[in-house]
Amino acid sequence: MSLDRVLVIIPTYNEAANIGPITARLRAAVPEAHILVVDDNSPDGTGQLADELAAADPQVHVLHRKVKDGLGGAYLAGFAWGLEQGYDVLIEHDADGSHRPEDVPRLLERLHTADVVKGSRWVPGGKVVNWPKSRELLSRAGNLWVRICLGLPVADATGGFAAWRAGTLRGMDLAGVEAHGYGFQVDLAWRAVRNGFTVAEVPIEFADRQFGDSKMSRRIVIEAMLLTTRWGIAHRLGQLKHWATSRRNR
Ligand code: GDD
Ligand code: MN
Repeated sequence: MSLDRVLVIIPTYNEAANIGPITARLRAAVPEAHILVVDDNSPDGTGQLADELAAADPQVHVLHRKVKDGLGGAYLAGFAWGLEQGYDVLIEHDADGSHRPEDVPRLLERLHTADVVKGSRWVPGGKVVNWPKSRELLSRAGNLWVRICLGLPVADATGGFAAWRAGTLRGMDLAGVEAHGYGFQVDLAWRAVRNGFTVAEVPIEFADRQFGDSKMSRRIVIEAMLLTTRWGIAHRLGQLKHWATSRRNR
């Protein structure tokens, strides 16, 4: 399978100060890759800036959505576009500089022997810089909860930096994705594992944004927690049933 045609998807909501610099860094770090900005009609004009970047560079594309509809929806729209265009690899990448474009080649390299590669803050060599202690705690607790509920073999399941083989995304039921917010990351990782795909992690350095504001909200946290818990209960009940049946048949 070829991994030559690479699309980096950047979801944006009010990232006017970031979209220019991050696009330039990505183009320099992975010159062969195309970029798709998925903007949710940002009031600060991010969508228009993205249009200007696209007009000046045939490797930059823009998808405009009418309203702010969550990170999950933005990525699903980006995936659909990228798969339809025939890209081999689809990469999730934040706009705000927290993910380093210079790390993309390492993710791509690892993808040769995995079905999906996640950039991970919580494996040896990974770290966070300038992130508020409260956010670090939330991320660590969230990942612990994911592990307790789902037993995922992924240290940073909530992270938003990932490289997907097109075939992996095609092999998952994307229409069944339930999370609208950042729980989307867990939803996808869980789907990949359940479908038997190998999820690899490479260490990344995650630095807090310098410009603009995080879109993290209480609602996003609650959605992720409730969904993970529900999936966990179903998963653990299933394991219990399996265990009981195999005992009876012994
Ligand atoms: N189109 C669109 N629509 N983009 C969005 C939306 C939305 O509703 N919400 C957020 N984004 C974009 C932001 O503009 C940014 O490019 C990216 O998604 C990440 O949003 P941030 O608001 O910067 O996230 P964060 O830094 O608080 O959270 C980080 O950590 C989370 C937990 O680990 C990100 O890496 C998340 O992806 C990750 O899940
Ligand atoms: Mn961010």
